Amino acid sequence: MKADYKNWVPKGMVYGLIAGTGALAAGYAVANELTKKAPKSVRVGTKAVLGLGTLVCGAYAVWSVAAHRQFSYQGKRQLSKQIVEGTAKYVNIPVGGCGLDVGCGSGALTIACARRNPDAKMIGIDRWGAEYASFSKQLCEENSLAEDVLNTEFRNGDATCLDFEDETFDAVTSNYVYHNITGADKQKLLEETLRVLKKGGTFAIHDIMSKGRYGDMEAFAEKLRGEGYEEVRLIPTDDGMFMTKKEATWMMLRGSCLLVGKK
Ligand SMILES: C[S@@+](CC[C@H](N)C(=O)[O-])C[C@H]1O[C@@H](n2cnc3c(N)ncnc32)[C@H](O)[C@@H]1O
Repeated sequence: MKADYKNWVPKGMVYGLIAGTGALAAGYAVANELTKKAPKSVRVGTKAVLGLGTLVCGAYAVWSVAAHRQFSYQGKRQLSKQIVEGTAKYVNIPVGGCGLDVGCGSGALTIACARRNPDAKMIGIDRWGAEYASFSKQLCEENSLAEDVLNTEFRNGDATCLDFEDETFDAVTSNYVYHNITGADKQKLLEETLRVLKKGGTFAIHDIMSKGRYGDMEAFAEKLRGEGYEEVRLIPTDDGMFMTKKEATWMMLRGSCLLVGKK
């Protein structure tokens, strides 16, 4: 059995957008016939709404097909794999220690870190909600078995309020999770993740850390340094490290950045 990490742009979304575009286009054609004798304002208004809807939905459908291909673990680009493995390189766990992956999805980053740290353990937590319906705890466990990486454990959990004592883990990591949590203060989410990290433990957190989402991350990094954190670095990954600037722009990943360091 081969691991199946699914896709950050799920197939269901791609098919839904294609079907939606088809339905709107059909609606436009039907409305064109049915409103022939209707007053001009009704005719023009109906066609404008359905025509615009078709164009917008069609554009999203084209985008989703292209993004699905780029992210796919099977395809030529394998962007997700590169991001996950590139992030895992910063996760170092001492022998007998334990690391945490917040928002583990299909288990890719948890498993990549566990493979790199065979004498330690990785715990992956996720809330596995409706927005990423193809990800599940069972899928993570199956992927671990398929990869023959058995030093993993997966649990239900919420990134906004981690169910662990302060300073539980020797390393913490996360990839493309916090930007999904609408309404939350992203720096508070980082603090919640760092809360469960032991003194001396390493962190590697990758996300779209644009100013609009995260606020001033340089000031946040400086604050951590002031609190005694070491080797704190913000590493942009959207200008060649994980993706080109052009890819980051059209895939809506501008601002992608790794926050790494030691507590
Ligand atoms: C883009 S996916 C990334 C999955 C995984 N980190 C990876 O690199 O493949 C975002 C993940 O964040 C999870 N997530 C979103 N909000 C969460 C929350 N409040 N607590 C835990 N997980 C959350 C989603 O369920 C989803 O699995």
